[in-house]
Amino acid sequence: MGETSTEFTQRERIPVGIFNSAELACREVADAIEALIRERDGADMPTVLGLATGSTPVGLYRELIRRHREGGLSFARVITFNLDEYYGLGGDHPESYRRFMQEQLFDHVDIEPENTHVPDGLVEREEVYGACRAYEEAIREAGGIDFQILGIGRTGHIGFNEPGSGPESRTRLVTLDSLTRRDAARDFLGEENVPRHAITMGIGTILEAKRIYLLAWGEAKAGVISQSVEEAPTDTVPAGFLQVHQDCRILVDHAAAAQLTRVRHPWLVGPVDWTPEMIRRAVLWLARKTGKALLKLVDEDYAENGMADLLTEQGSAYELNINIFNTPQHTITGWPGGKPEADDSHRPERADPFPKRVLVLSPEPMDDVYCMGGTLHRLANQGHELTVACQTSGSLAVPDPDLRRAVELLDEVARGQGGEKEAAFAASLRRQLVAKGQFGEDSRDLRYLKALIRRGEARASGRLLEVDADRLRFLDLPFYEQGRYRRFQPGKADVSIMAELLREIRPHQVFATGATHDPLSVHAICFLVLCQALDLCREEAWTRDCRIWLYRGPGAEWEAHEIDMAVPLSPDEFENKIQGIYQHQTQRSQSPSLDKGSSSNTWNLASLINRSAADTYDQLGLAEYEAIECFRKWVPDSWRD
Ligand code: F6R
Repeated sequence: MGETSTEFTQRERIPVGIFNSAELACREVADAIEALIRERDGADMPTVLGLATGSTPVGLYRELIRRHREGGLSFARVITFNLDEYYGLGGDHPESYRRFMQEQLFDHVDIEPENTHVPDGLVEREEVYGACRAYEEAIREAGGIDFQILGIGRTGHIGFNEPGSGPESRTRLVTLDSLTRRDAARDFLGEENVPRHAITMGIGTILEAKRIYLLAWGEAKAGVISQSVEEAPTDTVPAGFLQVHQDCRILVDHAAAAQLTRVRHPWLVGPVDWTPEMIRRAVLWLARKTGKALLKLVDEDYAENGMADLLTEQGSAYELNINIFNTPQHTITGWPGGKPEADDSHRPERADPFPKRVLVLSPEPMDDVYCMGGTLHRLANQGHELTVACQTSGSLAVPDPDLRRAVELLDEVARGQGGEKEAAFAASLRRQLVAKGQFGEDSRDLRYLKALIRRGEARASGRLLEVDADRLRFLDLPFYEQGRYRRFQPGKADVSIMAELLREIRPHQVFATGATHDPLSVHAICFLVLCQALDLCREEAWTRDCRIWLYRGPGAEWEAHEIDMAVPLSPDEFENKIQGIYQHQTQRSQSPSLDKGSSSNTWNLASLINRSAADTYDQLGLAEYEAIECFRKWVPDSWRD
């Protein structure tokens, strides 16, 4: 996809290509890299690549490996320089960037080991400066970087150039931003294990590359992409300094493009096709922007905010306001499973059948209560046949101190009451815990124990929400059991477990997360597995009477125009939900997707989100509630006729 500049891209200071998927974008980057390598090989010259780690380039590296294996693309004359490395980690540490590069690319292509460069994370403190200068010198000696791949962090960092890094910065030791450390916490199995420092190429170093491609996938990057592209560069969003580069491109998927003006508010930059969906989006945005209730918007509000043509098309603000007002009004329901024997013509969910067979999917234990605890309570309480399935065991998210407590408890029980076998098992667990150390991987037994801890929490939480323990299912999808964060590889076994459950329940309603912002996240993979399972079932009769409702996922909520069902919670129901979340004791300090600058922990973030959804409805001039949980209706492509 080209980056032709039009009136819609007038605010963009770096060319941005928006792709239908990360995969397609990666293919385009691989095309460019392949062309360069072949051209250089032809001229008997080396190709110097600047490489990044993290989730973003994984697809690109897989594509390059494929081309090496199937298309004879050779890396024999390629020289690489990686952007960064955690300070304090050796190359064999599972989270070191050296190890990442070996596993994701170098071990699978014919690159000469001595041609691969990753900053040394173990260099003595007093030698760091010299090592950084030597790294820069090596880049220069190689002829400079021909082609630099970048990802972007939610802080706006490129490499590990956190906010505060200037355009002149060079390769150096830096302190990691707290948000960056939090984002890495899952990979390191706990924030306390994430190194505090890293060695990174500077922005000045990066800007010397001849050509730069920055890649970003998923909605978590959308905000920082639009800031980098549309705002004047400042130290607070270091990626913005790429604006001065003469040959820089940004490649994003639709989710990462979502905050660009041309996507988010296209009516501000050019003429738009006023479809009902676009009108809904624009009018709800206008109400939020002006701080006015929908029914109080006047012609001037429309005219002053790029929507004069809509007014002309539709007559007057008065008519537009009324039409739009009805839409969010009709999303509100206290009957998420449908209200039996009621007129359902203006309700989000149908009245019949009643009771419904309802399947609620929770990628990890707690996502269900976190994102839809109030709704879950209502579904149970209103008599539906509810099944809550935790797709993965969630064992990876149990911090070690909680594991240690469980091991000690088992040990004490075994000593007090148990026989020899129990005592031996407890002692073996203790040994395994010691052997694992701070950074090691959990043994199978330890991981199993962690999974059991999370099951216990899920049951305790379910009890508060009137979801009996026998309504809970623990699928323990194999991709999770066999994987590690960012290294998950979902497969057929996962899909068939999911499909089997769907076939057994034949649900009238499925509630699942639509959080696909990080394609390698547990949430996105669980959604992918669900999609594939739904595809397998597409011919089955139950699918014709099944509705799928997506909750947005932890840490965020749907935007007003995306909401198809809004379930209000009274203060008591809301408090009950919060108590349900508290039962997940091991998750008290896990914070999967907090926004930049937020100091909240996972627990109070849930209440902020539900309260702010209620504020949105209130501000639009609808009813005023304590809290609201929101859902979006979704139909898999393969189910559409
Ligand atoms: C990695 C690097 C970082 C990442 C960024 C995005 O070498 O330099 O800037 O590119 O943190 O990480 P992911 O891709 O994991 O979202």
